[in-house]
Amino acid sequence: MQKYLLEIKNLYAYYGKAEILRNISIYVEKGESVAVLGPNGAGKTTLLKSICGLVETKGEIRFNGADISKLKPHERIKLGIAISPEGRRLFPEMTVEDNLLLAGNGEMLEFVYNLFPNLKEKREQLAKNMSGGEQQMIAIARALMLEPKLLLLDEPSMGLAPIVVETIAEAIDRTRDELDISILIVEQNIQMAFDVADRAYILASGEVVNEGTIDNLQEIEKDYFA
Ligand SMILES: Nc1ncnc2c1ncn2[C@@H]1O[C@H](COP(=O)(O)OP(=O)(O)OP(=O)(O)O)[C@@H](O)[C@H]1O
Ligand SMILES: [Mg+2]
Repeated sequence: MQKYLLEIKNLYAYYGKAEILRNISIYVEKGESVAVLGPNGAGKTTLLKSICGLVETKGEIRFNGADISKLKPHERIKLGIAISPEGRRLFPEMTVEDNLLLAGNGEMLEFVYNLFPNLKEKREQLAKNMSGGEQQMIAIARALMLEPKLLLLDEPSMGLAPIVVETIAEAIDRTRDELDISILIVEQNIQMAFDVADRAYILASGEVVNEGTIDNLQEIEKDYFA
């Protein structure tokens, strides 16, 4: 059996001629929760887009042992990769529930409503009328509707109050415990990353500059702020 659910080797990513990621090698084991930390412009979103097939890349992206780097985005979704994207990208004029049902056939609805009772309560409301925290919950719930094996989260804490960040961190933990799922979370909020992740990579200017377990948090933090 494959130890790694996701294994990226010597990955480069490009927007046109601009090389944004250089020689990235990271992995996520089955059942693991891994964070990627880094400042604005480090390439965090580009890394997640590379995994989803949304940017031009060079190098290996292995999922369950198979190289998926040439597959189309929808083929990667089918294999079990889902993303809660930066900025959430909801359909604002649709209800909470319709946003969720667009992604999946409803079998996961009970799980996500149990995970986020607020969403169940307000399922008939338009997405645009939900709070920032609730909109983030919809984005995560929508990704879960795809029943992924790997959940990619792009800065779920962005713009949210600490108490809401905590609620979302707990939901992410529960998801990992209760579903057979691995998580790759991109963050600038170190507390969020440390709340949910077992390990972290530090990304700066498109390269991995450090990595470690959350136990050697202090060294990671020191580097991150350097
Ligand atoms: N569509 C694009 N076309 C050209 N360059 C881009 C594009 N998207 C991002 N970039 C550039 O790629 C680099 C990395 O951007 P990326 O969005 O991956 O960073 P990030 O770490 O997610 O930053 P943030 O924390 O602000 O979200 C930046 O220099 C950015 O200007
Ligand atoms: Mg980003």
